[in-house]
Amino acid sequence: MNTAVPRTEDAGDIARARPADALGTSAAQARSAVLEELIRKDPGRFRVLTGDRPTGRLHLGHYFGTLHNRVRLQELGVELFVIIADYQVLTDRDVADNLLQHVEELVLDYLAIGVDPARSTIFTHGAVPALNQLMLPFLSLVSVSELNRNPTVKDEIAHSRQSAVSGLMFTYPVHQAADILFCKANLVPVGQDQLPHLELTRTIARRFNDRYGTGSTVFPQPDALLSSAPLLLGTDGTKMSKSRNNAITLAATADETARLVKGAKTDSERHISYDPVTRPEVSSLLLLAALCQGRSPEQVAAEIGSAGAAVLKKVVTESVNEYLAPVRARRAEYGRDRAHLRAVLSEGNERARAVADATLAEVRAAMNTCY
Ligand code: TRP
Repeated sequence: MNTAVPRTEDAGDIARARPADALGTSAAQARSAVLEELIRKDPGRFRVLTGDRPTGRLHLGHYFGTLHNRVRLQELGVELFVIIADYQVLTDRDVADNLLQHVEELVLDYLAIGVDPARSTIFTHGAVPALNQLMLPFLSLVSVSELNRNPTVKDEIAHSRQSAVSGLMFTYPVHQAADILFCKANLVPVGQDQLPHLELTRTIARRFNDRYGTGSTVFPQPDALLSSAPLLLGTDGTKMSKSRNNAITLAATADETARLVKGAKTDSERHISYDPVTRPEVSSLLLLAALCQGRSPEQVAAEIGSAGAAVLKKVVTESVNEYLAPVRARRAEYGRDRAHLRAVLSEGNERARAVADATLAEVRAAMNTCY
């Protein structure tokens, strides 16, 4: 494992091309297609950072939205850093409950889907002091009104259960910039909601370089790699989400999966057709079966036809259970070896610390604060 940070020039024409965030989502998609081509040609020039908040088990929405994409990139030969964002749990709640358990569940989910700790680094940002220290100079590079404008944070504040907005909620996108820039990642696979954070990360990287990089570039401006996966709905027809209790987790048993799918919302029309606009619930179930089967939702719909929602649910249950069987088997196996889990995490943290220390040393040199 290479703990050295990649040279910033490695970003090369990636950095010179027009940034996705300046152009909006459709341009981000076009940009992502260009990036895919570059990744296929030369995976070694990319370092990916992505991750999750440890608030519970990962589900099928996560899987098809981002998780399988991480493993795909790893298999293409891209270096992968997966962050378990423990401090970020405290953005919308006062206490992070069962943190250790949630962290271990995430590590289990990652190993089960095929993240390989020999090639990829799984770590928690709380265990990497130098990463967190980057937040201070980074905070000095953004204005309060810029932080105020972040639409994802605004949305999270609107849905927060807290009566007061904490300083961490307000500033966590800056912390996220430190998550990304500490290892000089140049590629961040994200969903649309994370685009504002990535735009801020690029801004911070640019401003740091302008202000402190006497002729040299300290940080790359990372690119978003937008997931092409359409949104999966939960069993109640709203977005699949841990907090809404409408998710099928990777760890669910075959029976739990059958029960959850059976209770899923559909509509009163017997003939099954794929129409995400007028029939969102039925279409999302079709999509889920199709993703598991590696076919199109239209094909799955045509096969079920007038057999109705009960058959649709049977098909979905079987598809999910068959698809997840090997993941679940691996998860159970890893779950029996807690010492291995702890070792994966402590080795990942150690690697992340080495990378973060090197970056902080560079930052301190650039800022002329080596005493
Ligand atoms: N904000 C992400 C989420 O809520 C988790 C995260 C933390 C992250 N730091 C990151 C994602 C850095 C990408 C890059 O799921």
